[in-house]
Amino acid sequence: MKLTTGTTAVVTGAGSGIGLALAERFGRAGMNVVLADVAEDALAAAVAKVGADGGATLAVVTDVSREESVQALAAATLERFGSVQVVCNNAGVVSRADPWLGPVTAWEWVMGVNFWGVVHGLRAVLPHLVAGGGGHLVNTASIAGLMPGFGASYAASKHAVVAVSEDLHLDLRQAAVPVGVSVLCPGWVRTGIMDAERNWPSTLGEAPPRNDAVQIVTRHVERAIAEATTPAVVADLVADAVEADRFWVLPHDDFTSLAVERWERIAQRLDPEPAAAVPGLPSRDELMAELLASFAPNAGPPNDDPPGDEPPGA
Ligand SMILES: NC(=O)c1ccc[n+]([C@@H]2O[C@H](COP(=O)([O-])OP(=O)(O)OC[C@H]3O[C@@H](n4cnc5c(N)ncnc54)[C@H](O)[C@@H]3O)[C@@H](O)[C@H]2O)c1
Repeated sequence: MKLTTGTTAVVTGAGSGIGLALAERFGRAGMNVVLADVAEDALAAAVAKVGADGGATLAVVTDVSREESVQALAAATLERFGSVQVVCNNAGVVSRADPWLGPVTAWEWVMGVNFWGVVHGLRAVLPHLVAGGGGHLVNTASIAGLMPGFGASYAASKHAVVAVSEDLHLDLRQAAVPVGVSVLCPGWVRTGIMDAERNWPSTLGEAPPRNDAVQIVTRHVERAIAEATTPAVVADLVADAVEADRFWVLPHDDFTSLAVERWERIAQRLDPEPAAAVPGLPSRDELMAELLASFAPNAGPPNDDPPGDEPPGA
């Protein structure tokens, strides 16, 4: 579908990162933009930014993990703009807790936002897209939705998003419903994702402690994200996919190749193996050497804040 003046887009997780870039992209296309986020301050700043270009905006504080909150977002959108054409279920979080020894609330949080957030978003808007004559749905998964290795709860939630998206796409095609579906599976993008715990919900109790065992890798991931593709580039690819009615949005060929390699191993019944090199990170051998060095006597704890290390962008 064409992204044109007068049509309406909803973006969840619009307060930061990829969601904010999507909202800006849709605003530049002249669309009405509904920005939804659980973080009120970030949402207010984002709506001011998107609205500065003169387009019509609406900010709706939304917790995507709660069905009633997402239903209220859909209702507010219809009340303000009368119809909706594009919906990006984009809000997402990553937990830095130990998935096996840490509290189960970390899993509940990640699945609540990343998986249930997408399901609630789809169910809340699909009837309205159909009633309005069509539209397009975009679900933000991750390359972690096509290959594990980025943390169990995150990978599980993103695999679920890919599966849900693919099934929905098939259902809609088979029923000849004029609603397109895209799934976004990026590698590293320069956002605030590594600081996702800023939005830990108090309803789940204390935020779980971070897993110190993976600190060395985490530090490299933070650097890779700080140096990664900008969200604006990703937003342009999503806009292209919506206009071309294309399902897969795969911004990073090097990561996609790793997912293909994984499937080649599956077809050969070979056990899973860590990738020899993940784009943006030191090789597996270099990481192992760094890890071993940190266990050496007098090595001290892994340096949490090495020179030149930058926090991820927002
Ligand atoms: N940054 C990356 O490298 C990368 C890679 C692959 C996929 N992704 C995915 O991209 C999506 C966007 O994340 P980002 O990288 O822009 O990170 P980000 O932290 O910059 O933005 C995420 C936004 O989601 C919001 N949010 C968190 N919990 C929410 C909730 N319960 N309800 C509503 N909003 C909530 C946050 O307030 C924030 O504004 C996520 O689904 C993430 O998993 C990111």
